[in-house]
Amino acid sequence: MCRLKAAFARLAGPWRDSMLIFVLNGPNLNLLGKREPHIYGSATLADLQAAVERKALGLGLRVDFRQSNHEGALVDWIQEAREKAAGLVLNPGAYTHTSVAIHDALKALAIPTIEVHLSNIHAREAFRRHSFVSPAATGVICGLGAAGYLAALDALKGLIDKGPKG
Ligand code: DQA
Repeated sequence: MCRLKAAFARLAGPWRDSMLIFVLNGPNLNLLGKREPHIYGSATLADLQAAVERKALGLGLRVDFRQSNHEGALVDWIQEAREKAAGLVLNPGAYTHTSVAIHDALKALAIPTIEVHLSNIHAREAFRRHSFVSPAATGVICGLGAAGYLAALDALKGLIDKGPKG
């Protein structure tokens, strides 16, 4: 890292946007609406994004909503959230159950993080019951579909308003 960038990274905390929430979605969530609709519902990722943005507006928050099928992109975005955002909503998809890299990236975050799953991962196959993300998250919501993302925004708003000392 160049010296200027390193200095900025050290100082990034004070310039964080206190209204900005990163909402990050992992692999295959781009297929929402087409993929196993009996589990994930018929709404598309664009529908989910619209509902999240509407909810954020009502709470006085702004969201940066993204999806990637690539683990490294998610790690890069979590690191970006570390410098820019006040909170993180993360549905890591299948990387929930495999990714030490995402766990480590979350451990380096000082902002509250809510892990969200559309489905109830505990009521499905045994391999979905373990999450590498949960031990590094502030809270976990699963099984509520899109409503889980909206509840995560409510929770983050409360945590942000309370401030770091609670
Ligand atoms: C998911 C649950 C994961 O087990 C699965 O791999 C997904 C979606 C959910 O939102 O329910 O891709 O994160």
